[in-house]
Amino acid sequence: MDRINDYITDNKERFLNELMDLLRIPSVSADPKYKGDVLKTAEEVKKRLIEAGADHVEVCSTAGYPIVYGEKMVDPSLPTVLVYGHYDVQPPDPIDLWDSPPFEPVIKKTEIHPEGAIFARGSCDDKGQMYMHVKAFELMMKTNSLACNVKFMIEGEEEVGSENLGVYVNANKEKLKADVILISDTGIIANDVPSVTVGLRGLSYLEVEVTGPNRDLHSGLYGGAVANPINILCEMIAKLKDENNHITIPGFYDDVIELSQEERAEMAKAPFSLDKYKKSIDISDIHGETGYSTNERTSIRPTLDVNGIWGGYTGEGAKTVIPSKAFAKISMRLVPSQNNHKITQLFTDYFTKIAPPSVKVKVMPHHGGNAVVTPSDSAAYMAVSKAMNDTFGKKPIPVRSGGSIPIVALFKDVLGLDSVMMGFGLDSDAIHSPNEHYGVFNYFKGIQTIPLFYKYFAEINAQENKNSATLIASK
Ligand code: BES
Ligand code: MN
Ligand code: MN
Repeated sequence: MDRINDYITDNKERFLNELMDLLRIPSVSADPKYKGDVLKTAEEVKKRLIEAGADHVEVCSTAGYPIVYGEKMVDPSLPTVLVYGHYDVQPPDPIDLWDSPPFEPVIKKTEIHPEGAIFARGSCDDKGQMYMHVKAFELMMKTNSLACNVKFMIEGEEEVGSENLGVYVNANKEKLKADVILISDTGIIANDVPSVTVGLRGLSYLEVEVTGPNRDLHSGLYGGAVANPINILCEMIAKLKDENNHITIPGFYDDVIELSQEERAEMAKAPFSLDKYKKSIDISDIHGETGYSTNERTSIRPTLDVNGIWGGYTGEGAKTVIPSKAFAKISMRLVPSQNNHKITQLFTDYFTKIAPPSVKVKVMPHHGGNAVVTPSDSAAYMAVSKAMNDTFGKKPIPVRSGGSIPIVALFKDVLGLDSVMMGFGLDSDAIHSPNEHYGVFNYFKGIQTIPLFYKYFAEINAQENKNSATLIASK
């Protein structure tokens, strides 16, 4: 641990500056206007991996943005860790709400981050967390302490659904052979309450279009006699949930796994203050499905939310018009055993069915993925637990998160590999929001914890191999 801490202390400024340089490149995958910058970021990640000591580093092209691959195989008898992360970021909008420009990182102190936090789009999700792995790898190389083989797979399309990564994984099963996948793209409960994410929700994301008359109409001449697609869309959306905030789509809950009372009681042990929660986002009351706690509503229960809605006149002043069309983007968070394709179909059938004959409805699926639950008794979990216990001074709590990383379920299906999600962000870090930030404490805590994960993972694996060898010998 001393060796780790000394290396970090000696290189602190540089580690921060390198991350800030990476954050200056606006690698927004959703908006084609940033294409050059996304590609530039991939090249930059490649360069950094080479500098840190990785072999066979390449920018692998796909039908979309490239995947950066690199590896260091030290000894075939050692376990192999496949590190996954993403170098793309969410769009910075709404830009006006940022206190400093999203791609000009600055370090500022906050109440939660008294040591300072780096404010920039991607600082927490996921450049800052991904880069911890590059720097931890450099540290292990320079201090001659790399305890496992390592492979890096850093993609540029996570924020838009990882479709091409799915293709890449399917085509490169041999190359990606490993014992575990290590991901830092999630969070901890608080800086003094470490946790490990052992579950993610799935996602079904789609867009709907409701068409009324074939052109915008004068709302005085036609109003009252012709369906207004915006009114209709709102009525249809309102029908998707009942008074208990239960989703009304027939069959929606069919595959949902209900947790036992024991499991729910275990979950309820995680520290949570409803008061602080409400204060932090300035709401006077919470809102959700009857019969479930806030933690349950955001992790083990599926949801349906409108993410965007538009149509008609939204410019300056007033315009009396019945629009021809109305649109909405709708997403559903899914839980284990719900299938995203099936849910998309159920939504489509129901939404089409409840449309009155006065309008036409189109449902266009976007991306999606299934939920995952990862083991909390595996060698990798034990290694994370020991590593965090060393660096935080207490054992992490296993928690299921409400967010989604759709590719994690695919890793399990295609590569047969479990992921361990050792993230260091906080819910309050404002990922996907204006003023996204990442604690300096969290960045260095990650760089400090990662090498210990490798060390314990190698040790536990060696111990397990020894045990099974003795078992075979004694037979
Ligand atoms: N890193 C997040 C997911 C996340 C954050 C999981 C915090 C758990 C805790 C990831 O980049 C993300 O934003 N995922 C998207 C889905 C994706 C298909 C756009 C999400 O969850 O909305
Ligand atoms: Mn992410
Ligand atoms: Mn994200």
